[in-house]
Formats: sequence, C-alpha cells, structure tokens
Amino acid sequence: MARPTLIAPSILAADFAHLADEVAAVERGGADLLHVDVMDGHFVPNLTVGPPIVESLKKVTKLPLDVHLMITNADAYIAEFAAAGADYLTVHVEACPHLHRTVQAIKERGVKAGVTLNPATSLQTIEEILPDVDLVLIMSVNPGFGGQKFIASCLQKVARARQMIDRAQSRALLEVDGGVKADNAAQVLAAGADVLVAGSAIFSSRDYAATIAALRAAGHPAPVHR
Ligand code: DX5
Ligand code: ZN
Repeated sequence: MARPTLIAPSILAADFAHLADEVAAVERGGADLLHVDVMDGHFVPNLTVGPPIVESLKKVTKLPLDVHLMITNADAYIAEFAAAGADYLTVHVEACPHLHRTVQAIKERGVKAGVTLNPATSLQTIEEILPDVDLVLIMSVNPGFGGQKFIASCLQKVARARQMIDRAQSRALLEVDGGVKADNAAQVLAAGADVLVAGSAIFSSRDYAATIAALRAAGHPAPVHR
C-alpha cells in the first residue's frame, strides 16, 4: 500500500516577526506537521528557539509540533519541551550517549520519540533503538543552518534506512531534513521517505500552498498516457 507523503515546513526559514501568520499560512496551505529547529550554539554553531516558542506555537496551530533538538544536553530539556506541547521530540544520536534512556524519557511523557543522525553518522547507531522509536530523521545537510545544499550521498542512506525500518517491522516514520526542494523531492520520496522537511523551499516561495502541493505531488508522478 502506498504510504502518504507528509510535509513538514521548517519555521527556521519563516519570518519570525510574523510567526503566527506564517504558521497559519502553511497550515492553510496543507502542511501536515510543523518542524521546529532547536539549536543551542554548542551541538551546532547556531542559536534558535526554546520551549517558550513551542508553547506559543501550540496555542496558534493544530499542526503537530515536530521538534528537532540540535542540543548537547537533550535529557535536561525533555520535560520542558513535553510540557510546552511538543508532539514529536527528535534527538541526535551524536548527543545522546544513553539513547535508550532518552527515548524512554520522551515516551514516558506521552510524546512521540524520534532519533536523528548527522550525514557522517552510520545508520548502525540506530539499529538497536528502531523498535522503540516513532520517527527516524535522516539529515541531508550538516545541521545548524537553513538554506544549505542537499548532500547527494544521503539519498542512498535514506534508501538503506527505509530497508532497515521495514526489516525491523518498525512503524517509525522516515523523515528527511535539509536542502529538500521540489526538484529533488521525487528522488527523496522514491528512496522511501515518508516526511519531507522543507524550510527555505517553502518560506522563500511566493505561494506556500503551491510549493507544499508540489513537494507532495513529487511522490506521485503523473501517469504516462499512451
Ligand atoms: C538544519 C535544520 C533544518 C533546516 C532545513 O539544521 O535542521 O530543519 O531548517 O532548512 P532547508 O529546507 O532550508 O534546508
Ligand atoms: Zn530540522
């Protein structure tokens, strides 16, 4: 059975001075999740937002909040992000030496648990945790900034992650984040992704709804009429 394609706009590329309007626009435009990038200036060389913004977003949108923690000490903030209204909390394997404990701590708070890895990190690092997670995020750029170029070798990794998830009979969604645009979305979806994160592709476009629709449609190429 064909899997639905989900689109998660990353607010990192939105106009923060008009965040509620930006979120409303992608919600009207057909987004499925709202991707929130949390950076601590330590795990990644950039600073963004924390629990108060998640809490504020929760009040203005019905979209599930897909919170991507690019932070060194994720364990110390799980309770706060859960209370703020995160629906998914995704942690980096590179930053979580006790990943199983971290994933359980997320799930104990009734939040869906995701794990993610940097482009140079092997998929083997998530093999043992697959049965426990709700989401696997493959980074297709080195995290820290929006608007970077998709690293082509990550396509192979997405395909291998798909096989791993299916082999483990895991229900985890497979999400891809970084440099996803209308012109590579078909390849990313063909490799087996369920969820496309897109920041600059959506928020730099004139018509958010049309861009979201184009990203989604990339997974369903038009039939060839003979
Ligand atoms: C990168 C972030 C991404 C980023 C994606 O560190 O995790 O979510 O916002 O932005 P684009 O789609 O512009 O590459
Ligand atoms: Zn992200």
